Formats: sequence, C-alpha cells, structure tokens
Amino acid sequence: MTDPILPAAAPPADGSAADGPNRRLYIETVGCQMNVLDSELVVGALRKRGFEVTSDPDAADTLLFNTCSVREKAEQKIYSSLGRLKYRKRKRPGTVIGVLGCMAQKDKDLVFRKMPHVDLVVGTGQLAEVPDLIDAARENALRGSKSRLTALSLSRKGGARKEIEASFESYDPLREPTMRPTPHQAFVRVMIGCDKFCTYCVVPSTRGPEQSRAPSDVLKEVQVLAGQGVKEITLLGQTVNSYKHSGEGKTYRLSDLLYLIHDTPGVERIKFVTGYPRDLGDDLLEAIRDLKKCYHYLHVPLQSGCDDVLKVMKRGYTVEQYRDMMHRVWETVPGCSVSSDFIVGHPGETEESFEKSVDSVREFRFKNSFIFKYSPRPGTKAHERLADDVPDEVKRRRNNELLAVQNEVSEEENARKIGEEVSVLVEGPSVRQKKTDEPAAPGEAIQLTGRTRCDRIVVFDGNPRLIGSTTQVHVDDCTGTTLIGSIVTREVTHLGGLPVLV
Ligand code: 5AD
Ligand code: SF4
Repeated sequence: MTDPILPAAAPPADGSAADGPNRRLYIETVGCQMNVLDSELVVGALRKRGFEVTSDPDAADTLLFNTCSVREKAEQKIYSSLGRLKYRKRKRPGTVIGVLGCMAQKDKDLVFRKMPHVDLVVGTGQLAEVPDLIDAARENALRGSKSRLTALSLSRKGGARKEIEASFESYDPLREPTMRPTPHQAFVRVMIGCDKFCTYCVVPSTRGPEQSRAPSDVLKEVQVLAGQGVKEITLLGQTVNSYKHSGEGKTYRLSDLLYLIHDTPGVERIKFVTGYPRDLGDDLLEAIRDLKKCYHYLHVPLQSGCDDVLKVMKRGYTVEQYRDMMHRVWETVPGCSVSSDFIVGHPGETEESFEKSVDSVREFRFKNSFIFKYSPRPGTKAHERLADDVPDEVKRRRNNELLAVQNEVSEEENARKIGEEVSVLVEGPSVRQKKTDEPAAPGEAIQLTGRTRCDRIVVFDGNPRLIGSTTQVHVDDCTGTTLIGSIVTREVTHLGGLPVLV
C-alpha cells in the first residue's frame, strides 16, 4: 500500500507550526455534506499548524471523529470506531482523541462516560477552537492529567442567538482543497441551523437556530474558491431555500444570492441543498430558469406521501401542497429533476399510508430518493411522545419496496434521455476506472464521470485532460443510477481546409 499521508501545507508565516511528532491527523466524517464541509474547515486550520493528514488511523497521533446524530446507526458507527482506540491510547498516551459535531453537541456526558479515553468534545459551533484544544489536550495527556476538554455553547434558549452567530462568524473559513469531493467542486455554507422542528429530527437541537450568512461573505468565499480552480459550487443549508439575510436596507433571499454569485468568473455550475417544500418560492424557480449556471435540480424531501403521517411529523405541508409545488417546478423549469428523502416506519405509518408514499414516487417521478427507516432520537418530540410502533422487519421491508419502486422510476426517467446530447461537467475517473489497477498510458482514454445539468451521473470514455471541463456527451444507454454515453465529436472545417475534430 502506498503511504496515504498527504503533503503538509507550507509552515505559516507566524511560525506557529511545530515540527516533529504529534502532528499526524486522522479524521473520520459521517453524516451530511455540512459535516464534510466542517471537516474540510477543521483540516484547513490544522494544516496551518503543521499537521499532516493520514488516512491510516495507526499512523496518527491525533484522531478526530466528526459525528452525526440524525439516525442511531451513525452514532453506533462512531462508538465502534472510538471503542477500537481504547488500548491504543493506553499504549501511546500522547494520542489525542476528539469527538466533534452533532453527537458531541448532544451527548457530551454520554461520550465521556462510554469512552473514557476521549480527550475532547467540540460542538458544531465551536470548531474554530479545535486547534487550540488539541494542543491543550496533548499537554494534559502527556502530563498524565485525566481532565477532559469541552467546547459547547450552542443553546436555543433566549438571548443565545447573538452569541451563536458570533461563534459561527468567528470561524474564519480556511479552506482545505484536498478534502473536497474533487478539486473542481466545493461546498459553501449559506445558512446554519433549522427552525422547522419536524418531530423526528434532532437537527434543530444539534445545529441550533436558523442563521443566514451575509451575502457579501458568501460572495467573497465563492470568489476565492473560483480563484483556486473550483468550477462547481454547492450552497449548503439544512433548509437552504429558507435563506434570508437583511442588512443595508435590503433583504436577500436565496434567489438574490444566486444572482449575486452567478457571474463569478470561473464558476460554471451552481446548486443548492437541501430544500424545504413550503419555502420554495417562484422567485427561486425563476432564478434557476434564468441563470444559465444553475443546475436544473432540486432536492426537496417529501418524507411521506400520506397527509396523516406528514401531520404527525409536523412537516408543515400536505401532499396536495407538495403537488402544487411540483407543478410550479415543472411549469417554470421544464425538465428540472427533483429528488426526495423518505422516512419509512414513522410512528403511525400504516400499510395504507406507506402505499401512499409508494404512489407519490410514481407520481412525482423523483430522480432518486434517500430512504431511511425511522430511528427514534432522544431529545425529539417523536421520541418523547410517540411510540416507535412499526416493527423493524416491517420498516426494512417497506424500505426495500420503496427503493425498488424508486429504482424503476429512476431507470424509466434515465431511459428518456437515451439519444439526447447532454452537457457534462467532468468530475474525474469513474468508480470503475478507480478500481482498475493499471494506470492509463499518457493520452489514453479512461472511463470518466460527470453530471448533467439535471444532476444525473454520466459515464463515458475520454481523455483525462477533460476533467474539470464541460463537454458534450451523447447518451447511448442507462441504468437506474447512471447514464452511459460517448463524447460528441464534430467535424469542423478549418479555414485552411484541414478538418479539425472538436
Ligand atoms: N429517523 C430516520 N430518518 C431521519 N431523518 C431525519 N431524522 C430521522 C430519523 N429520526 C432523515 C430525513 C432527512 C434526512 C437527512 O434524514 O429523511 O431528510
Ligand atoms: Fe430536520 Fe425538519 Fe429541519 Fe429538515 S426541516 S433539518 S428534517 S427539522
């Protein structure tokens, strides 16, 4: 195996980087894109302190776990990873182990009780403090001190909002290109938190109240990223289309933000996730229609196709209202693809209500759906007040059934693209290509992957030089998840009479 350690960043001008040992970082991230971005920011800050990133936990002396609490399974995964480190810490006491993010926020005491070898716990709003906390924790560990460090101040109680805003804003968004999905794609946070309080969901308590970033800060970040070669920007928010920022006599919505960043030189594509159905205004749809760099793609989770269940979930809309939204989408942005999330086995979901979710997938023709079995989360209204009354095997069956129907729909919708020419932003080698051991000869075509403007994945053979560019691909075939195509080559007659292929 090759050494997975990435090169360290140049030492900072302030000379704060320490040489030598204790600067090898392993970071594990679970959960949503928000967490992926948080990890990128943490790694960026640590590399400025001279840390190297390794993908091998055994080679690291600092191990961080950026956690998710949305479903129990995500938490179990982190507890297993942490459990494995217990003996390691005994053998190498200078090791620093930290738990960051949502689970840290929610369960600090439980984490310390279950995992006595954890040194620090840092909440979602305090990630800027991670570098200093690691240094302090290492000193503690080397002195044999048993004290643990925490940084948590997120609270929804009155008066805390200003403090929380300050804590988020104080985090200078240092960027770490090697942590991005690809060198050409980057996430930009435009809002944090959620005020919707769906009964099943832990996010309002782990991420705090909804707060939108100033448009000028978002623009600056997009410009910096574009300067680094980023072509695709994904704006992030838990309910991203609820974005609202007032200042200097104007209130900015997400549509205004799209206009503001759209003409940034270098940026070719813009998308935003995750949407909230009730807040999907016509202004946003018109912006997507009129701005040529915007994806024709929306992720607006329906969660259930049954009004009774939606009511129990307190989602704030009915299926009929969601239907109206879909008609507005289809009318304003023809061909726009929409994806959804569903929870199956939510308290009160009968066989009949589940069938309505199945019907909704057929009716709304989602590009894809993320389907989850209901997982009761302590601290949520559903956990406090509703019995988890659907047995696990029923949840599993419903999950499989809904997935099977979604796959059928996805394949049918993909098949409609066969014969079309689509514009693809090329991301890199395909999954299959990455698995092949033999390196391609210079100039040799490899299997590449990218996305259409409707966010459909396309694979095709092409020169690796195309990575990061937008190219035309003819769709020849498909599966439920992927369009399979070939690059469009056109013969152009040069002025000199020589044919040139483009
Ligand atoms: N159980 C199962 N799925 C959940 N989600 C959120 N909370 C729960 C829960 N308690 C799902 C929702 C949401 C996605 C991110 O996770 O579908 O849209
Ligand atoms: Fe959770 Fe509902 Fe907020 Fe989404 S809108 S983050 S599901 S509370």
